Amino acid sequence: MEANKNTPLGVRIFDRIADKYEFTAKFVSFGILPYWLRNLIKTLPSEGEKILDIACGTGILFPELSKRFDYVVGLDYSLPMLKQAQKKGLKNTSLVRGDALKLPFKEETFSTVVISLGLRHFPDIETALKEAHRVLKKDGTIHILEVGIPKNPLLRKLFLLFLKRVVLPLGKLRAKEDVYEHLFGSIINFPHYEELLKLFTKLGFSQAQYKTLMGGIAVIYTARKV
Ligand SMILES: C[S@@+](CC[C@H](N)C(=O)[O-])C[C@H]1O[C@@H](n2cnc3c(N)ncnc32)[C@H](O)[C@@H]1O
Repeated sequence: MEANKNTPLGVRIFDRIADKYEFTAKFVSFGILPYWLRNLIKTLPSEGEKILDIACGTGILFPELSKRFDYVVGLDYSLPMLKQAQKKGLKNTSLVRGDALKLPFKEETFSTVVISLGLRHFPDIETALKEAHRVLKKDGTIHILEVGIPKNPLLRKLFLLFLKRVVLPLGKLRAKEDVYEHLFGSIINFPHYEELLKLFTKLGFSQAQYKTLMGGIAVIYTARKV
């Protein structure tokens, strides 16, 4: 899987900014990213066997995951992001370069799966969730953090304006190609709220639910494999 022109845009963006990713992510989120991540962590089991962090990026979650789980596997398509993750040097963690749409693991390998700010970048969300379901053990849980769009009409309007006029141009400053459409489109076209819950149910998950943060600017989805 060498990076080339066929590498999806949702990966190439991160290939390029890997060494500055954590700083950039905190900067464009005006410092609220750690709060979102803390809330995601709170939904995870307080202890567990083996967790798969899909689209782990620079391993921003690893310090917390490695405290709670016996073993952490971080998977990402982007080699430069994984190289940053490697620098975290945690003992019970291993890194795998791979595609979320074709996970290189056997059925029922993990007790928990987490996807933090990754799902909307995948070219096919349904296939990615099917794969996550396949590698989860029965009774295992999936935990997803994504950028949301507030349901309240006024908040929604303000948020979309803020995205268009402030956050995305900031991202554009750091990018050489058409990152703007991908970042904006991935938020707009994402199956938010009930739509994602329906997809969970269709794929065989149960107890699918979501929790909004900051009026719906971020959303945490959880579901269980039965
Ligand atoms: C916004 S970063 C999230 C990183 C980390 N999870 C976090 O919370 O900071 C999105 C990550 O998704 C990865 N990614 C995008 N498409 C992917 C795919 N098809 N398979 C695996 N990883 C993918 C990118 O390489 C990038 O590291």
